[in-house]
Amino acid sequence: MKISEFLNIIKSEIQDITETYQTNAKYGFSKFINFIESIKPIIDQMKGLQENPLFIGKISPRLLQDPLSLENLNKKRSPDEKESYVMSYLIAILKLIYYSVFKLNVWDYESIKFEERITKGEDISKFDVVRKLIDLIIFKIENSDLDLGTDIKLLFTGISLKNKKQQDKKSFLSEEKVQLDKNKEKISFTSRLIAYHRAEEAKSENLLIKDPFAEKLAGTLDQYKEKHRFTLKRRDYSIVRAYHIERNLLRKWCERYNESQIVILGSGLDTRAYRLEYLKKGNHIIFELDYESVLSYKEDIMKFEHPYCKIKYIYANIGKNNIIKMLKEESFNPKSVSFWILEGLAYYLQKDSFKKLLKRVSNLSKPNSEIFIDLCVPAIANLRFGQFTTHFKWGINKDQIPDLFKNLGWNISAKYADDFDQGRDVGHRGMIFIHGLKKPSF
Ligand SMILES: C[S@@+](CC[C@H](N)C(=O)[O-])C[C@H]1O[C@@H](n2cnc3c(N)ncnc32)[C@H](O)[C@@H]1O
Repeated sequence: MKISEFLNIIKSEIQDITETYQTNAKYGFSKFINFIESIKPIIDQMKGLQENPLFIGKISPRLLQDPLSLENLNKKRSPDEKESYVMSYLIAILKLIYYSVFKLNVWDYESIKFEERITKGEDISKFDVVRKLIDLIIFKIENSDLDLGTDIKLLFTGISLKNKKQQDKKSFLSEEKVQLDKNKEKISFTSRLIAYHRAEEAKSENLLIKDPFAEKLAGTLDQYKEKHRFTLKRRDYSIVRAYHIERNLLRKWCERYNESQIVILGSGLDTRAYRLEYLKKGNHIIFELDYESVLSYKEDIMKFEHPYCKIKYIYANIGKNNIIKMLKEESFNPKSVSFWILEGLAYYLQKDSFKKLLKRVSNLSKPNSEIFIDLCVPAIANLRFGQFTTHFKWGINKDQIPDLFKNLGWNISAKYADDFDQGRDVGHRGMIFIHGLKKPSF
């Protein structure tokens, strides 16, 4: 697990606690206790990484005490005292993470004083300090070339295993809502965003995509509605892209082949296996690859539904893992034809990772296999606006695209998305749809 992923988990937990605390202190407090309980061993380990744990006292003397004893003291403390304690404790945990990750000892606290820097000149509440501290740590980590020490790696692996076990333990039915809310926080916003687009499309007239599962998968996006209002409203591009794949490409593919493998890389909350009746005929299998958090969230929600074809979920970091090995382990057969979908993925990977991925995909693709990819032009990648383009890593001009596929054995066509727009507003010459056919002689 990458630190940034871990931090995102911690971030959503802590944000959830602070937000709940402000609206319902009692419930927020019980969330806090559960959170501390779940990461207590990790806090102990992080304390252990300090040369002299006594100096943890410089972070918060309370870290040396048992935070859970607070539960017993609960009744004796005033609400203000309790709130101050809870927030100080969260601040202390964040500092501890900071020190552990940057391999600093708390001695260095005096010289860093980031809390003071955050609060300088401002009358700022502890809630704000917690939020700003998370952002600061994430910012620092994302902007550094961290080489994690072994201890830290073990620590984070421990956390991810622990989180998984805890999720497994919980009963879906008895705590359905709580569980869904918790998991939703941990999965990438972009996967939910596309599901949300499909859900909104389903409610509209002249719809292009009808997805009865999308609303449940997207969940409520209330907390994003203000910040991402523009992105949430602009569904035309993702809908037109899905429509093009489903109507123009995949349908023909399924008419042509009775038996095939369909691989969706960065599948997010895709529901094609449950929606496209043409998959029923013949013997198709869909491999979906995405982060474990995204796929397990989806598996949970869809577990009582019946797909039209077989699905295999493969938890992967597509930019890093060797997907050839992973697919083969899941019985992907390179001797059979395959249809590859990289929809809303390429520009989120580093360009080099994408090129490596494309090479791997090409190696696994038998002649007559097909591929769909969407790319963006550099101007879009540099926009960095809203959730949609903020995380785009690269773009490419249309005339440079053949170079990407040179020597990989594909005949490709690259067209602007506006050529397929179905009368919708997909922007002008910014996004590019690529369709490739593996050369028979390759
Ligand atoms: C914009 S969403 C598209 C989802 C889906 N293809 C669709 O159109 O509904 C991008 C997806 O790619 C996934 N993704 C991005 N980078 C990834 C990586 N390195 N490894 C695995 N999944 C990744 C995200 O988790 C997310 O689900």
